[in-house]
Amino acid sequence: MMRKIKLAILISGRGSNMESLIRACADPDFPAEVTLVLSNKPDALGLEKAQKAGIKALALDQKAYTGRSEFEIALHNLLIENKIELVCLAGFMKILSPDFVRKWTDRILNIHPSLLPDYPGLNTYERALADRRAESGCTIHYVTAEMDAGPIILQHRVLVLPDDTPDRLAARILEQEHIAYPLALRLVAENLLKSAPAPA
Ligand code: GRF
Repeated sequence: MMRKIKLAILISGRGSNMESLIRACADPDFPAEVTLVLSNKPDALGLEKAQKAGIKALALDQKAYTGRSEFEIALHNLLIENKIELVCLAGFMKILSPDFVRKWTDRILNIHPSLLPDYPGLNTYERALADRRAESGCTIHYVTAEMDAGPIILQHRVLVLPDDTPDRLAARILEQEHIAYPLALRLVAENLLKSAPAPA
């Protein structure tokens, strides 16, 4: 059987991008497997969805830790224990510290609902509409210390329609997210397989 990159998906909420990654990884020819799903919110809907899909899914409740660095130590240890090689942030609403991100350089991907570098941060749909942009979309990028600013792997564009509301635009961008994230993951995982030996 082919070797697959061991993936962790970090979520905070409904986990629809997580589901699209789980679906892609179910293909025997896909170069990654979902080893672990982690949420920083114990009540994230996505946790239950991952468990139903038969995937180890845990909450790392940030409230149980005294601060960000304790939380990140626990997160780092869990990733190491599970021999994780790549991390996909999928609606993970917590900012990771530069220290943590440096430890996992080139090993963390994120999906963002705008065409970066336009509209980093929150309320991307409202801002694109307020600026009367003709198009918006989603970006999958490597995570670096600066928020929503790492090297771009893939973008999918979406036309903004005259009668768009933030919700309608968000729904059409989300459809593209579900297509684009597995494609980007495939690219990155294939490259990693070529360059990285299996972890001991
Ligand atoms: C997505 O729009 C993603 O781009 C953003 O947060 C949302 C998460 O949705 N980072 P879901 O939890 O994957 O359904």
